Amino acid sequence: MFHWLEKNPFFFAVGVFLFVAYAGIVQILPNFAKQSQPLVGTKPYTVLELAGKNVYIKDNCMSCHSQMIRPFKSETDRYGAYSLSGEYAYDRPFLWGSKRTGPDLLRVGNYRTTDWHENHMLDPTSVVPGSIMPKYPHQFENLADIETAYAEALTVKKVFNTPYDQEGMPPLGTLEEAKAHALAQAKKIAADMKTQKVKDAVANGQIPEIVAIIAYLNSLK
Ligand code: HEC
Repeated sequence: MFHWLEKNPFFFAVGVFLFVAYAGIVQILPNFAKQSQPLVGTKPYTVLELAGKNVYIKDNCMSCHSQMIRPFKSETDRYGAYSLSGEYAYDRPFLWGSKRTGPDLLRVGNYRTTDWHENHMLDPTSVVPGSIMPKYPHQFENLADIETAYAEALTVKKVFNTPYDQEGMPPLGTLEEAKAHALAQAKKIAADMKTQKVKDAVANGQIPEIVAIIAYLNSLK
């Protein structure tokens, strides 16, 4: 019945194309309509953590660190449970990365602490002899950009309905309220730090970048 089609390469190619395109549409298109579903227990980043995430992006940590644990034993032994898509529902942009000069950081909050990060960011070799990770002393000087992080949180709440008003999260509120919540979270972190300059800054209502990025790293679990 389709002999004429098999003998005509042009129509045969068109037929194959239509067939594959149809299969693709049926399989792929519905997934675009589905929003990525957050995994139960996944919370949006607080304003302070978002500010820290922005420091992470600005200082280009993802050029050496991935945030994507693959389902191989070697990876789950080293980093913990492998990644599930719903864990990234509130990551805008996601920071999966594509290069591992250093280890994966998706669950670093489970096994590194505030004081460890403080020493490590100031001088990685002080805690990991022979480390080739760069030092980030400027994070102890520069202040974190809380206003941009607040604007970002407000935007994803409006545009993507990110549930900022759930239990256990500080409500977004006004900029002043958000700044107060960020400072309260920063104070808890500064209490575990030893750099006097950073402690003084937080006591005076300022939030150095190092405090924000530690809040972010501690939230990665
Ligand atoms: C030039 C590559 C490079 C860059 C850029 C880099 N790192 Fe690293 N990082 C490493 C290497 C290599 C290690 C492993 C040695 C060590 O622990 O210091 C590491 C280790 C770490 C660890 C310890 C993880 C663990 O499981 O022990 C953390 C946390 C970390 N980096 C955070 C950061 C952050 C935050 C930034 C950005 C501000 C950053 N890194 C930028 C190379 C890099």
